[in-house]
Amino acid sequence: MPFDSMEPLVNKRLSDRIFDSEREVVLGTWPTGADVNFKDGVRYQLGLPEKKQFSAVMKAADDAGRTLLQPRAGVALLQEQITLLTDLQPHCDVLPTTIDAYTRHNRYDKCANGIARSREAGRSLMNGFPAVNHGLHGCRELVEALDKPVQVRHGTPDARLLAEITLAAGFTSYEGGGISYNIPYAKSVKLKDSIRHWQYCDRLVGRYEDEGVHINREPFGPLTGTLVPPFVSHCVMILEGLLALEQGVKCLTLGYGQGGNLVQDIAAIRSLRELGDEYFNAAGFTGYQLSAVFHQWMGGFPDEESSAYGVICLGAAAASLAGATKVIVKTPHEAGGVPTMAANRDGLRATRQMINMLGEQQKPAGEDVALETDMIKREVRAVLSRVFALGEGNIALGTIRAFESGVMDIPFAPARANAGTLMPIRDDNGALRVLDKGNAPLPDDVLAFHRDKIAERASSEGRAPSFQMVIDDVNAISNSRLIGRPC
Ligand code: 5AD
Repeated sequence: MPFDSMEPLVNKRLSDRIFDSEREVVLGTWPTGADVNFKDGVRYQLGLPEKKQFSAVMKAADDAGRTLLQPRAGVALLQEQITLLTDLQPHCDVLPTTIDAYTRHNRYDKCANGIARSREAGRSLMNGFPAVNHGLHGCRELVEALDKPVQVRHGTPDARLLAEITLAAGFTSYEGGGISYNIPYAKSVKLKDSIRHWQYCDRLVGRYEDEGVHINREPFGPLTGTLVPPFVSHCVMILEGLLALEQGVKCLTLGYGQGGNLVQDIAAIRSLRELGDEYFNAAGFTGYQLSAVFHQWMGGFPDEESSAYGVICLGAAAASLAGATKVIVKTPHEAGGVPTMAANRDGLRATRQMINMLGEQQKPAGEDVALETDMIKREVRAVLSRVFALGEGNIALGTIRAFESGVMDIPFAPARANAGTLMPIRDDNGALRVLDKGNAPLPDDVLAFHRDKIAERASSEGRAPSFQMVIDDVNAISNSRLIGRPC
């Protein structure tokens, strides 16, 4: 029996009966689904050495206070993907496989065409690795060829078949979530459907967990990557964390995309870890493993490679000083499109140099960091308490109602389900503030703090805060600045 979107959505662990009947349908949606054998997947996963297990490598890094490096990388053909990751492997700690856009839309027929055309052309004509089409055997060959853990990184609202295939093949981490892989990525996928489909993915991970296999799960922190205030993404991270834990996930990495102000970025990672534990424990979850990932700047990049290195290095510094478990690395080709292996390697090298120089230094812990940490926590608590109230005990429903009413609102997201009335802006220090709160239930004194900070900037620029100022901020980093000052 497939998921019927007329059924009410509840935040309850999917029963074996429902999961098993849905699984039949999921595996039947493309021929490669037939090769998936859960028992064989468990056996293979249990046989992986620790150095190839995401959860073990992340735990060792957090215990040692180290920040791991991860690139993004995906091409159309299997042998090219193996070569690409083999070449990147010496320069990073954990590996990705970035999935192409057709797979993200479940268009495996289009993938088949893209693969055939890439073979003819002798080079990748796709923007990622079509893992479903390469199937269990292709994905297994990839994992076998590598010495480090491999994660699936994508942007897929319905990622059930992709999860079945890649996890059975030996990938040990799975990115995404029902909110973070819908609202910033899709226009008209119902939130109810994507949350339900991600409950399936999380339950699948929970099933592996039941067999002693620790698969890492990573909600996608940066969202639209465009001036997202930390409290907005933290709320999504905590809700997706709670939804995942309910399905039996035990190893979570919560994410955050660099804002650009060093103090706020450090406070963001600090508050994310603390709030995660606060909410997960309050909901009765214990015995999970929690870590934090910092994404180097996810907005527009400068064209010039040398300028791009500046952005990359500020992100590397922030990740290290914030004590993130992992940093996702950008490349000097970011403004142009999918990077070459060499550009990817160079972004990693620049990041490594920064992490090596900063990693052993004491982390800043001044009053400014404390103030920002406290501010983010108060914002998150205000929003989440409203989400919980709207859900009347059901956070899945609460999330849907929160988006419908604008209580949760992700800046610049394409989804129809998103109100799009919350407007962010930088203050005079480049920290992200709220120009228009939309319907976000932020406390009055917090809003007054935002207003005062924005007023400081308005006065130093001699212009009133406006939508033009926001646009200037969106474009600032591409123009080699942080704050969109008038020329
Ligand atoms: N290989 C490398 N990087 C990729 N990105 C998207 N697809 C690929 C790929 N196939 C990167 C973009 C951007 C981020 C969202 O993902 O360049 O930095």
